[in-house]
Amino acid sequence: MTLQEELTSTVQALVAGNKGILAADESHPTIAKRFNAVGVEPSEDKRREYRSLILSAPGLGEFISGVILFEETLHQSSLDKRPMPELLASQGIVPGIKVDKGKIPLVNAPGDEITVGLDSLEDRLEIYKDRGARFAKWRDVYPVSDTLPSRQAVEANAEVLARYAAICQSLGIVPIVEPEVLIDGDHTIARCAEVSEAVIREVFTALARHRVALNHMILKPSMVTPGKDSPKATPEQVAEATLAVFRQVVPAAVPGIFFLSGGQTPEEATENLNALNSRGDQPWALSFSYGRALQEPAQKAWAGNLDNSQDCQAAMLKRARLNAAARAGGYYPAMEA
Ligand code: 13P
Repeated sequence: MTLQEELTSTVQALVAGNKGILAADESHPTIAKRFNAVGVEPSEDKRREYRSLILSAPGLGEFISGVILFEETLHQSSLDKRPMPELLASQGIVPGIKVDKGKIPLVNAPGDEITVGLDSLEDRLEIYKDRGARFAKWRDVYPVSDTLPSRQAVEANAEVLARYAAICQSLGIVPIVEPEVLIDGDHTIARCAEVSEAVIREVFTALARHRVALNHMILKPSMVTPGKDSPKATPEQVAEATLAVFRQVVPAAVPGIFFLSGGQTPEEATENLNALNSRGDQPWALSFSYGRALQEPAQKAWAGNLDNSQDCQAAMLKRARLNAAARAGGYYPAMEA
């Protein structure tokens, strides 16, 4: 296969059917927070146990097309001693990998951050690809206030995101481009829309500058919502505000917009995705690439105990199935029962 053919086949597999992506790529500090919340002491072995359990849930591949792994997991074996990428392949799921190295304060821009990890990215991608990864993820983060993010942060983050995407494509790896506009704060949905539009517009300007092929990438944005300390918007309001922004700034050549959940509850994230898919045809597939909203119930059910394996896998499958239904606009809350 040529690199172009590899990119095409990976993108097609990721957007296929009514499936979505599972983000299971929490860094050590983040997964430690999730484990502590369910009373589990984090360790390499516990991370392996938990991730092996959710990834081997029987039939997961019916609803999940790709899984974003953390580097450690890519090199681990499952509970039944298969390399994790091999386990995913047996489920018909494409393995992916988070490749950014997190964020640091952006100098001379108080309150803003910049994502790092471009140094030696090519070398790391070669290793990840040898190990089975076919797509990658890089996350930029934008806080929202009356004055943030600064113009400087919007431009600097877009530039690194575009450079990452170009490097991935040059190696036949599909980039997931993730500009996350944070839900933290008490801002209005209108302010979130304003920031999201500026951020995503700048990201596509940078992608064009770096000649990234839009048909060979996936956008992973946040939905347009009020800040989490403001009154909630209805799913219809979220869908309307989100589509109003995205139709202005996301080119039709992008095959899929796979949303992050970003602090929405599992049920909210499903309802909002369903509302987005209930407003007629759009130029792009509208799907999910959730971390917390897919995994929270599974983590609670597991609680660090292998005796709970079946309940953990059932909880994982339930959220995957309901979000796949939402991708088709066919979810209704009674399905939660
Ligand atoms: P959440 O859905 O929990 O926001 O995680 C998605 C993700 O991959 C963040 O980078």
